[in-house]
Amino acid sequence: MAVAGNGILVASGPWDPVPWAAAVRAIDPGRPLAIWPNVPDPNAIRYVMAWHPPKEALKGLPNLHIVFSLGAGVEHILSHEALPDVPVVRIVSDDLTGRMTEWVTLHVLMQHRQQRRYDRLQRERRWHELRQPAASEVRVGVMGMGVLGKSAAKILVDLGFRVAGWSRRLKEVANVESFHGEEGLDAFLARTDILVVLLPLTPETRGLLSMPLFRKLARQGALGGPVLINAGRGGLQVEADIVRAIREGALIGASLDVFEAEPLDAASGLWELDDVVITPHCAGWSDPAELTRQILNQITAFEAGRPLQNVVDRVASY
Ligand code: NDP
Ligand code: OXD
Repeated sequence: MAVAGNGILVASGPWDPVPWAAAVRAIDPGRPLAIWPNVPDPNAIRYVMAWHPPKEALKGLPNLHIVFSLGAGVEHILSHEALPDVPVVRIVSDDLTGRMTEWVTLHVLMQHRQQRRYDRLQRERRWHELRQPAASEVRVGVMGMGVLGKSAAKILVDLGFRVAGWSRRLKEVANVESFHGEEGLDAFLARTDILVVLLPLTPETRGLLSMPLFRKLARQGALGGPVLINAGRGGLQVEADIVRAIREGALIGASLDVFEAEPLDAASGLWELDDVVITPHCAGWSDPAELTRQILNQITAFEAGRPLQNVVDRVASY
C-alpha cells in the first residue's frame, strides 16, 4: 500500500513513458504517479524512474529519495548535471541478462560461422562452402566481466570457444582466463580473435575502441583477422576508426548494437559496410512490465526498511 507523498515520476527521455506508467499503475494503482513533464505536485515525488532524463526532470523535487535507472547502464544518470545526492539504483535482472546473452551469442556465432559471407553468396545464387574453423580454434575476449560479461562468457565456454575476460579487478570464472587493469590489456587483446564489449561508459572507457586498440588484436587467428562486437555503449567506440579498420582489414567484421549518437545517422559510413552488422540498441530490450515490477519490489522493500539492491557506487564504480 503506497503512502501519500511516496510518488513516482517517470522520466524516460527518448523512450515512450506510457508502458512504464501503465506498468506502475497495474502493479500499484494507489501510488501517486507523474509522467515528465507533467508534475502537478513536485513535493509528492519520492522516486524517479529514469532513462536519459531531461535536464529539468531531476530539479525541484524536494522529497526525492532514489533515482532508478530503467536499464543496467547508468552513465545517462551519473552524467546528469542536476543529479541530486541520492542513491542511484540500476537494473540487474535475469530477463535483461538473458536477452543480452542471446544477442552476444548470436553475433559471436554469426561472425564465427561467416554468416555475412553466406548471405552474399546466397544473393549471388552461389553454392560455395567456406572453410570453417572449430569454436575451439577461436579465442573470444570479453571486455567487462560484470553481470552481463560473465553470463555471456559462460555460454561461450559451453559452446567450446577459448574465452578470456578483462575487467578492472581479477575475476575467477571457470574456464575463463582472467586479465585485468591497464597492465593486462595488451596481453588480453593479443590473444583475442573476437572482441565482445560489455563495458559501461565511464570517463576511463570512453573512446577505448579505436584504431590503436584494434591494431593490438590477434592477427593470425583462425578467422583470418579480428572481429569487434559491441553491445556496451556507443561512446566506447570511435566510429570513424571502425569504418577505417574494416576498409583496411584491421577488423574483418563487426556487430554493433550501440552508437556514438543514437539513432545512427543515415549518413554514417557504417551502414554501407557489408561486414558490419547493425542493430538499433535492442540487444537488451527493456521490458517495461518486468523491469517496473523489479523497481516496485525495491520500493516496497525500501519503505519496509530493508536495504536497496544494486545501488551504484558512484565513487568506486564511475
Ligand atoms: P557491471 O557493472 O555488472 O559490469 C561492468 C564490468 O565492466 C565490470 O566487470 C567492471 O570491472 C568492468 N569495468 C568497468 N570499468 C572498467 C575499466 N575502466 N576497465 C576495465 N574494466 C572495467 O555492468 P553490466 O554487466 O550489468 O552491464 C555492462 C554495460 O552493458 C552497461 O553499463 C550498459 O552500458 C551495457 N548494456 C547495454 C545494453 C544494450 O541493450 N545494448 C543493455 C544492458 C546493458 P570490475 O568488475 O572489476 O569492477
Ligand atoms: C541498458 C540498456 O543499459 O538497455 O539496460 O542499454
